Amino acid sequence: MFDLVIRNTSEIVTCDGAGTPEEVLKPIPKGAIGIKSGRIDWLGPESELPGEADDVIDARGSFVGPGLVDPHTHLVFGGDRSAEFEQRCRGATYLEIANAGGGIKRTVEATRAATEKELAYGAVPRLVNLLAHGVTTVEVKSGYGLEVNAELKMLRAIKALEGVQPVTLVPTLLALHTRGEGWLEAVLDDLLPRAAEAKLAVFCDAFVEKSAFTVDEARRVLTAAKELGLQPRLHVDQLTPGGGAELAAELGAATADHLEHVSPEGIAALARSGTVAVLAPTSTLFLRERKYAPGRALADAGVPVALCTNCNPGSSMTENVSLVMGLACLECGLTPAEAYLGFTRNAARALKLPDAGRLFVGGPADVVVYQCPSYRTLPYHLGQSEVRQVLKGGLLCWELGRVVRKSSLRGVADGPR
Ligand code: NIG
Repeated sequence: MFDLVIRNTSEIVTCDGAGTPEEVLKPIPKGAIGIKSGRIDWLGPESELPGEADDVIDARGSFVGPGLVDPHTHLVFGGDRSAEFEQRCRGATYLEIANAGGGIKRTVEATRAATEKELAYGAVPRLVNLLAHGVTTVEVKSGYGLEVNAELKMLRAIKALEGVQPVTLVPTLLALHTRGEGWLEAVLDDLLPRAAEAKLAVFCDAFVEKSAFTVDEARRVLTAAKELGLQPRLHVDQLTPGGGAELAAELGAATADHLEHVSPEGIAALARSGTVAVLAPTSTLFLRERKYAPGRALADAGVPVALCTNCNPGSSMTENVSLVMGLACLECGLTPAEAYLGFTRNAARALKLPDAGRLFVGGPADVVVYQCPSYRTLPYHLGQSEVRQVLKGGLLCWELGRVVRKSSLRGVADGPR
């Protein structure tokens, strides 16, 4: 009666509960899932499984959870900035490189020179890497165009990319990323109306930072975007404190991202507004900054905390979800349960996708089968994917490759313990 059954689990972590982080996880010990027509048709203890299926996935005693959600990436871009990485290894800072004409502006040049197709295909390997970590939904930003047609080209590339691979993409117009002559006016008069009219983006984003845009400029653009139906979100307090979290709260933004230098007043404002904090600890590591976002203080204040890879060529060239979770625990003070919710339930909330990031009857069969018995291993096994299989809409779309063996262990004695 099912198309597919997943059985022999240690537990199914549904992320569909309420209350404390551990309660939100709402695991079903030795659970099973029945999938039909791409959706979850049955969920419960395997001992109560009501039917059979032609296809069975044996989880081999490992845990099973929802497809992960990465709520902040810049996956689509042209060019390569590995030379800047080397400069930073030799001591140059991110801002010094940017002030000398490198940084975001270097990616802008390469992105302008690329075709829509080149941009879309260029992001496929990065998406596959995310899939290998169990990610089935990803937010992707523009922001490397810095001219109207190039920004629209980026958004169209994101749309094209959606069609050639299984991961759901949520497009964001990153309207204010780096400064350019007359850019603010071009955004207000031309880019916002055209992006909204063509329905190329769900969110509109702005980078509030000393080296980028002011609180007033971001307020102006995001207020206009909101009137056109684009939901505001913001990069704030990343390299210096700047009142960005307070602005995110004032605008009722979906998310306030980064927050390494957020003030106590900013944390209180986010808690009142219900804005989701999206932390990017691999950026802190990658930029050799010492100040990680205060995840513990944010969670204790009642701010919903999500995590992201922030995969981008300048400040976080990684798709490694496990590393992000590990750093969120070790450096931002989250518990493993909070880190796991940061890529499931809270990440889905950041993108305003109520059906993603959790497993429930009637919901999409976006499911990850791991090769470890507990979610706690994900941040603990630092930087390694524990994923064995990924299903998107009930279809197997990623499976751990076979290891080439030189010989077998047959005949090898167990020996004394
Ligand atoms: O989220 N902070 C601004 N934007 C990116 C960095 C982009 C780049 O350097 O190319 C970030 O860290």
